[in-house]
Amino acid sequence: LNLLVLAHGQFSQESMELDTGGLSRDSFPKDFIYGTATSAYQVEGAAHQDGRGESIWDVFVKQPGIEPNNASGEVAVDQYHRYKEDIDLMAKLNFDAYRFSISWSRIFPTGTAKVNWKGVAYYNRLIDYMLKKGKPFCCFLSGITPYANLNHYDLPQALQERYNGWLSRKVVEDYADFADFCFKMYGDRVKNWFTFNEPKVVASLGYDNGYFAPSRCSKPYGNCTAGNSGTEPYIVAHNLILCHASTVQRYREKYQETQKGRIGILLDFTWYEPLTGEKSDEYAAQRARDFHLGWFLHPIVYGEYPKNMQKIVKDRLPKFTKEEIKIVQGSADMVGINQYTAYYMQHVAVNESVPPSYQNDWHVGYVYAKNGVPIGPKAHSDWLYDVPWGLYKAIMYVKERYGNPTMILAENGMDQSGDVTIPDALKDTQRINYYRAYIQQLKKTIDEGANVIGYFAWSLLDNFEWRLGYTSRFGITFVDFKTLERTPKMSAYWFQKMLEKKN
Ligand code: NOJ
Repeated sequence: LNLLVLAHGQFSQESMELDTGGLSRDSFPKDFIYGTATSAYQVEGAAHQDGRGESIWDVFVKQPGIEPNNASGEVAVDQYHRYKEDIDLMAKLNFDAYRFSISWSRIFPTGTAKVNWKGVAYYNRLIDYMLKKGKPFCCFLSGITPYANLNHYDLPQALQERYNGWLSRKVVEDYADFADFCFKMYGDRVKNWFTFNEPKVVASLGYDNGYFAPSRCSKPYGNCTAGNSGTEPYIVAHNLILCHASTVQRYREKYQETQKGRIGILLDFTWYEPLTGEKSDEYAAQRARDFHLGWFLHPIVYGEYPKNMQKIVKDRLPKFTKEEIKIVQGSADMVGINQYTAYYMQHVAVNESVPPSYQNDWHVGYVYAKNGVPIGPKAHSDWLYDVPWGLYKAIMYVKERYGNPTMILAENGMDQSGDVTIPDALKDTQRINYYRAYIQQLKKTIDEGANVIGYFAWSLLDNFEWRLGYTSRFGITFVDFKTLERTPKMSAYWFQKMLEKKN
């Protein structure tokens, strides 16, 4: 690499030889969309400004010992005030789209009824600026296309207090009303909607081991004061699916024809590879796929939970009524897949000596190396191994098992430690290698017929990484968390080069 590090530690694309590995806009179909993704609580900040109400995350992170250095999303990276700079940066880096989320409690501070018009106005500003952001000196003046996600973990705290949040069926109507309001406000300009980000994470981390808000679980699965890991994750998932389906129904009945948009859901999916060729390990890997992705995608495509789950979870697994099946089945115009990593899976017996839990129901063992060889290089986060072939297998699996739906690779990326020095953070060659290899695998799935229409990198900026706070950096742009100054990393210039428009 011929690097010219400018005096203040910045790079420019011209100063580097960036290896795109043969990837360019031409590697993908003509209308393929490239974007970056973030979420409201992770980037907006302004948590107590302009009338925003609290979400369960505002409350959760206040508890002592939850966050490293008592971090919170109070300021985050202040996108609430710096959105123009961030959108300018997206355009400069040649991205086409931005996936952001709308904070429910910014719009309805108490979850329902009373609208906070200042919150509504913020997303109007954000969306309008994206759309108007033309790309200078270029014939493509389409701006940055908004991909709006209606919920990214941040349930209004008021609803948690009013009826136990996602655990209550009452949330279905309230969620659909909130979504309906967003369609009414923004649907003239937003044509791509998602109902939820990673409902599996909400249900399992929130209610199986209590690692995420609202931190409910039973012992020995976590250190919670209330909850039931054997039942609550399933009840919550069921309600989330009904929230999703009712919302899609509203969109289709009231808005889709006039607004001409599409709506889907964002599902995380780790690839699970059998550790050996033994049948028992193959079944274990399949169980893991069913309990992870199938939990949500199976009902959406086939109208019921995967047979594996029905057989194992039995009466603890809620059932869809005939009426519900009608709205759940077929309720996605597109499926976003968040794909980062892969693990080997091994069979283990159900542990009968402990009370049931969602994770125990999987009865699998996680293995991260085979014959002493790690499945891939590690990123900073414990769970994140760099396994590009996992992305290929995950997408091909969705293609085969779920009838090749319209897919978006909706999150992909890797983190560095929060305490890297700025020059090290900016010189993120490991991240470039990660992106290059994963996007090459994505190309392979498309060449082999997978119906993938877009790719979103996680994330545009370093931001608040949930339980890791600011000790993990997923951005292609470095953020100085004290000054909030943004500096593109080498990976940002890598995207800029790969996404260059030739004409
Ligand atoms: C999944 C989540 O959607 C996002 O909020 C998180 O920051 C990234 N993956 C990285 O862990």
